[in-house]
Amino acid sequence: MISLLQFFLLPLLAFAAPSPLGWHFVQNGSTGVIPIEAIVVSPTLAILLDKVQNDPLQIDGHGAWGALWSFETNTATALRVVSDTWCGSGGFLSNGTMVSVAGNVPQTPYTTDGRMMIRLFEPCTDPSGASCPLIEDAQHLLLAQNRWYPSTLRVFDGSLMVVGGMHDIAHFYNVDPANSFEFFPSKDGGVPRPSAFLERTLPSNLFPRVFALPDGKIFMIANTQSIIYDIETNTETRLPDIPNGVRVSNPFDASATLLPLTPPHFTPEVLVCGGSTKNDSIPVEELSAQDPASDQCSRITLTPEGIKKGWIVERMLEGRVMSEMLLMPNGKIMIINGAQTGYGSSDSVMDRIPGEQSNADHPAFTPVLYTPDAPLGQRFSKEGMPTTDIARLYHSAVTLTPSGNIFIAGSNPMSNVDNTTKFHSEFRAEYLNPPYMSVERPILRDVPAIIPFNHAFSVTVEIPAGIRASSMKVALIDLGFSSHGFHSSSRLVFMDAVLSRDRKSITITSPPNNRVFPPGPAYIFLTVDDVTSVGAHVLVGDGGAPPVKDQGIPL
Ligand SMILES: *[C@@H]1O[C@H](CO)[C@@H](O)[C@H](O)[C@H]1NC(C)=O
Ligand SMILES: *[C@@H]1O[C@H](CO)[C@@H](O)[C@H](O)[C@H]1NC(C)=O
Ligand SMILES: *[C@@H]1O[C@H](CO)[C@@H](O)[C@H](O)[C@H]1NC(C)=O
Ligand SMILES: *[C@@H]1O[C@H](CO)[C@@H](O)[C@H](O)[C@H]1NC(C)=O
Repeated sequence: MISLLQFFLLPLLAFAAPSPLGWHFVQNGSTGVIPIEAIVVSPTLAILLDKVQNDPLQIDGHGAWGALWSFETNTATALRVVSDTWCGSGGFLSNGTMVSVAGNVPQTPYTTDGRMMIRLFEPCTDPSGASCPLIEDAQHLLLAQNRWYPSTLRVFDGSLMVVGGMHDIAHFYNVDPANSFEFFPSKDGGVPRPSAFLERTLPSNLFPRVFALPDGKIFMIANTQSIIYDIETNTETRLPDIPNGVRVSNPFDASATLLPLTPPHFTPEVLVCGGSTKNDSIPVEELSAQDPASDQCSRITLTPEGIKKGWIVERMLEGRVMSEMLLMPNGKIMIINGAQTGYGSSDSVMDRIPGEQSNADHPAFTPVLYTPDAPLGQRFSKEGMPTTDIARLYHSAVTLTPSGNIFIAGSNPMSNVDNTTKFHSEFRAEYLNPPYMSVERPILRDVPAIIPFNHAFSVTVEIPAGIRASSMKVALIDLGFSSHGFHSSSRLVFMDAVLSRDRKSITITSPPNNRVFPPGPAYIFLTVDDVTSVGAHVLVGDGGAPPVKDQGIPL
């Protein structure tokens, strides 16, 4: 006979046991530096970049301000960074080299001025990264002008476009603007291209949200405005403003993403969520960390008809500032991190907690999934989402990993390492594991290392017997570069794919050309009945150094 105690305990124990299925936060390891910027550089490694500060991870007798994070060991190894990368950005070139750009002025005798720096990390096949340096050359590898808080974007010819920023350190608003575009490798003899759009969107146009459209043109959002920029004719076309006066670039950081592109039309749609409706004429000293962030998402289809319709408004489950969006292999959008009140930047609003520098409060602890093709009003869901207790506010980073889970790190609204405040320097690394991380997954094998455009190729697959294979998606994903709530160059292009009758191989057709997917590194993920494989690392295009010629067939 079971006792009354057992009667009550049994079901409780059953619930308390960790469930293998579902979404889970898992803490593992310490980053040693604060990842203000993060980018996956190989199947096993991410580069984490911090400002120059007293980080616990050491190199050359001082705090490191960069690290290689190993997804295999969950440890950080110091990376030698010579110039200050504080609040820069970066991305890959068509030949697979990672480029980090911009930064700030030296804070210690150990660093050099990072504001004009271009840093290279060549393709690295060493799983530990020990033999792969960050290359800096203050004589020859330089931007045309100082930039702090710029965005970057890999474009159709495989070059990196660098957008906006400010020349020198400024307090919250952009009062010393670099209102221009430039490229690496440089175009126009290295002369930056002035932008009327960036002029119009002062003083809150930092880290503009920029996207490469499938025709090669560039869609940009800053402050409340949007444009399409044509690199080939150097012309800007003004598009509708974000409805209801919501400001979406730094320091009002909303998150934004290009939604997954699907064959045969690859119709581009952009979603921007959160930010703030506060007037940017208000001096920062009069803004409050308790000001509610916007819950507005605005979505636009970037075709002539879609532009005529303008932005369609929908509402998140809460307001968010400084959150980030990730493209998941099944085409859903993960909205994660950030706060429900306040602003980006730090140490500037009126009512900070005494001794603290966070401009934001009320961290958003529960991620949200957005389903782009669900009916309007039913797209946001927290169902089954776990809640963390680690605040990820200013100077945090997040990225999808090659394994298919989500790496989350950093947060430091303080101006130096400080472990004592409520919103302190955060070194704990965390993963958000989707349900497919705890079941038997499909496996991709024999994936070619280089994938030309408009090309059909066959790969071997292993699909677990328990999966019926009633639906299948093959996603080509650029994992992007995380900095300040924006995932530069992040992109998902679905590829047509046919499973063989014996379920042992798939024939995949790559994107039609280098405008639909700007040439460069990517991961291929196979999702069968909503169970996703580990990503296969590929280089899309001919692997040539930028600028590369148009490849494939026109859309
Ligand atoms: C802050 O915490 C980290 C992680 O626990 C530790 O390694 C570091 O030494 C601490 N730094 C300071 C200045 O207290
Ligand atoms: C943390 O990661 C390491 C390396 O992958 C692994 O061996 C260890 O079991 C993990 N610890 C936890 C608590 O998951
Ligand atoms: C913002 O404030 C300025 C200065 O007070 C004012 O001229 C402007 O109309 C305001 N803008 C909005 C959208 O309220
Ligand atoms: C890629 O191109 C850039 C720019 O020309 C160059 O600096 C870099 O070394 C190249 N990388 C490889 C792997 O060839």
